[in-house]
Order: sequence, then structure tokens, then C-alpha cells
Amino acid sequence: MDSMTFVLFGATGDLAKRKIYPALYNLYVDQKMPSSFSVIGLGRREVSDADFQARVEASLHTFSRRSPEDAAKVRDFLGAFRYTSLNNTKLEDYKKLLEVVEQREQELGIPQNRMFYLSVAPEFFEPIAENIKESGLGSGSGWKRLIIEKPFGHDLVSAIQLNEKLNSTFAEEEIYRIDHFLGKPMVQNLEVLSATNPVMHALWGNHYISNVQITASETVGVEERAEYYDHTGAVRDMFQNHMLQLLMMISLHLPKKSSPDEVRAKKRNTAQSLIPLEEEALDQHIVRAQYQAGDLQGKPVVGYLDEPGIEATSKNDTYFAARLFLDDPFWTGVPFYVRTGKRLSEKSTRIVVEFKQPLSTGTSEGESVSANLLTIDIGPKEGMRLTLNSKSPMHHDTIEPMELSFNSSYDNVPEAYENLIFDALRSDATFFAHWDEVELSWRWVEPILKAFAADEVPLNYYAAGTEGPAAADELLAQDGNRWH
Ligand code: BG6
Repeated sequence: MDSMTFVLFGATGDLAKRKIYPALYNLYVDQKMPSSFSVIGLGRREVSDADFQARVEASLHTFSRRSPEDAAKVRDFLGAFRYTSLNNTKLEDYKKLLEVVEQREQELGIPQNRMFYLSVAPEFFEPIAENIKESGLGSGSGWKRLIIEKPFGHDLVSAIQLNEKLNSTFAEEEIYRIDHFLGKPMVQNLEVLSATNPVMHALWGNHYISNVQITASETVGVEERAEYYDHTGAVRDMFQNHMLQLLMMISLHLPKKSSPDEVRAKKRNTAQSLIPLEEEALDQHIVRAQYQAGDLQGKPVVGYLDEPGIEATSKNDTYFAARLFLDDPFWTGVPFYVRTGKRLSEKSTRIVVEFKQPLSTGTSEGESVSANLLTIDIGPKEGMRLTLNSKSPMHHDTIEPMELSFNSSYDNVPEAYENLIFDALRSDATFFAHWDEVELSWRWVEPILKAFAADEVPLNYYAAGTEGPAAADELLAQDGNRWH
């Protein structure tokens, strides 16, 4: 792994504290950092190097997966950190920053490889990229890479504009767009599952699969994010990115463990093959909803409109479900049902693959057997379950479902940010969102966003603490299916 400088914009922010410093530290402890590296933290505030290092250390104590008990190791790690104050939009500050970066590169005798991590509000992506170029920070003799995190635009047009701006400084292969769902171990496992298991491989596709259900349910409400969330909603916040990425990953069908380019090409094909929704028939394929007051795990909680900072007349979607089909011979006729919402009964991200039935089961007439299900638990606990049918040892002639279940026996597994930063450091872009995927995802949701803005799709309601609106059940019932 090449020695490099990690230039972190937003170094005093929340994400840095909770995720980025712990991720860097865990990589360091696991010997997954370059042998020599420098970290330059940037923020508006004036902070001394010593104070900055103390903040980083405090974040390790609170948020790190590996406890920072080896004082010498922590000291060595922190020794790589420097701080420089910077106004994101002021070119002069970038010139000063260039001097600091170069000085550290010389001190450490490392090449001019620079990783720019933008942990800042999206309105700063463009000015930062431009100033990196104008100041010469981006034209060292080594490589340069950019890590950014969603939102990548607010709609198709703004996403295209943003991308064009970024492309004037960074080539596509230099941009690492984090979708943290792609860093989750079970999501990374999806590719391997279908590519390395003949059993799975043989069953994948529309011969045996009846439908695929992708759920990300959350118990949290809008919390302190009203200003952001009330103008974003579930479609933009979760569906356009995380949920469609999960769809692209579960529908991969690769003959073998593949290269990043092959995975990307497959994902792009999937995104391209999403059948566009007809504007007149949107409500047969999608459900939007908002939570009302309810009871969440024994505690009363207020409705969305009573959350602090939410507009009293807001029609924002806190829940979204959709039925999608792919124009791909492999998946023809298989519905992908996707749902995500806040203030639901449980925190759970999972994919359920329902197999077709009946095969010739040999059951007597009128007797029904349950569908075989493959359930992939992505979080908060990782696991996998296969539901099969079995003869009851107790009741003659009775067939009952039986579950083969796997729960990961690893504890303390690397977190999404660790996996992703590690991949970016060794320039493996498999689990980052490629521009084509982002653009195609926005294209698919565009008519939905327009219909929401024009209030052309009914807004359903659900009580907090439930499994969502009844309309989401009807979405599947029209195909004779139900959510698992
Ligand atoms: C974020 C969304 O991207 O993902 C949040 O902005 C959401 O609204 C979060 O809560 C869910 O992530 P996880 O990893 O907790 O399932």
C-alpha cells in the first residue's frame, strides 16, 4: 500500500469523530495502513495540533471497535495527525494547506500521494474540488483520490452538475463515492455467495425465484435532522442510494469471483435494466407514507408533523415502498419489492429471497407447503436463514417449515467505514458507487420525485411502532404475495 497524505475536510465534525478516526485507528492496529502516512485535519475553527490529537484520541475512547489501551501505539498513531484551519471557499487557505502538506511529505519522505476525504455538507463539494485544482494541491507527482459521501445531488439535474464539476478536477477512477451500505460485511458477501456456491448459483434467477424483498426498517425518527430530512424524505435519503445498491448487489449473477470492473459492469447493467415506471400508473408500483403518533417498543412517540423543526403541513415521505422489475432475461417476471421507513417496529436491514412454489411436492391435494425462503440479515446482526419444508415428527402427514440458520460467530468485525477506507487506500473501487449507477438511480426515481412534488401520489399514514402502512401490503397482495 502506497504511503500517502490523508487530507480530511470536516475534521472537527461528527462523522470524523464517530467513524473516520476510529476506522483509521482500527486499520492502523490491524496493520492495514501504509507504513508511513500523514493525516491533515481541516476545519474552520482554530485548533492546535495538540488539541486536535487530543480530540482524535477522545473519539477512539468513545467510538473505536478496538480499545485504545496500548498507549505507545496510540501515541504513534496520533503522531501522524496535524491540523490546519481552512475556509472551504477561500483559495488562499488552500495555498497554505499545500505548504503544510508538502512540508509533511518532505519530513516523512513520502511521495505526493493525496487522499482527499470530504466529510462536509454537499454544498462544499464543488468549491473544494475547484480549490484543490486551483491551488495545485491536486497536481502533485503522486496519485490523487477523492472520497465523498452521499447525497450525490438532490435530483438528476443537480447530480449531473455536481459530477461535471468534480470531473474537472478528478477523473471517475479517482472518485470514491461512499455508500456505507456497500461497506457492510453481509452486503460485500452477496457477490461471493452467488459466485462461489453452486447451490446458490443454480437457483439464482427467474427459474426458481418468485420474488425478492429488500427491507431497511428503522426505529429512529428524524432526530436532530429535521432541516435536512424534511426536504429529503425516504426516497432520497435511503431508496435512491442504499436500497437500489442492495438491489444491484442481490441481483448479481457472476460465474466466479470477479474483478471490480466486472462487478461494476454487472451493477450498471442492472441499473440500466430497471424498467421505468409509467407516470399514470405510479401508485400501482409505489407507496409513500408518513408516520403518526404511536407506541414504539412500549414508549409513546409523537407523529412526524409534531417533531421539532418539521413543517406543520409537510407531506414528506418517512416511508417508501416500491415494486420493481428488471428488463433482464435472467430476472424477467421476478418482482423486487423494496421498502424502507423510519419509526417502524424494529431496526432491521435484510433481504428475503422467496423461491417459487409449488414444485412437485408430492403433497396430497389441498395441502399447502410454505415457500422456501433465503433470508439474509445485513444488520444490526449478521446472519442467514434458509427456510425449508420438513415432515413433522409429531403429527403424521404434516409438513412444517424448518429453519437452517447461521449467525456470524465473529464479534468485533470491521465496520463499514474501515472496509471502505481500506479499499480506497488500495484503489479497489468494487464497493463504491460508480457514477453510472448514481445517474441511473436518479433517472429511475425522477418521475417519483416529480409526482411527490406535485402531490400526485396518495400519502398514506402509519402509526409509529408498526410495520408500515396497509398500502404496502396491498402492493404485494396484487401479485398474490406478502412481506416476510
Ligand atoms: C443514512 C441515512 O445514510 O443511513 C439515515 O441518512 C439512516 O437516515 C442511515 O438512518 C441508516 O444506516 P444504518 O447503517 O444505521 O442502517
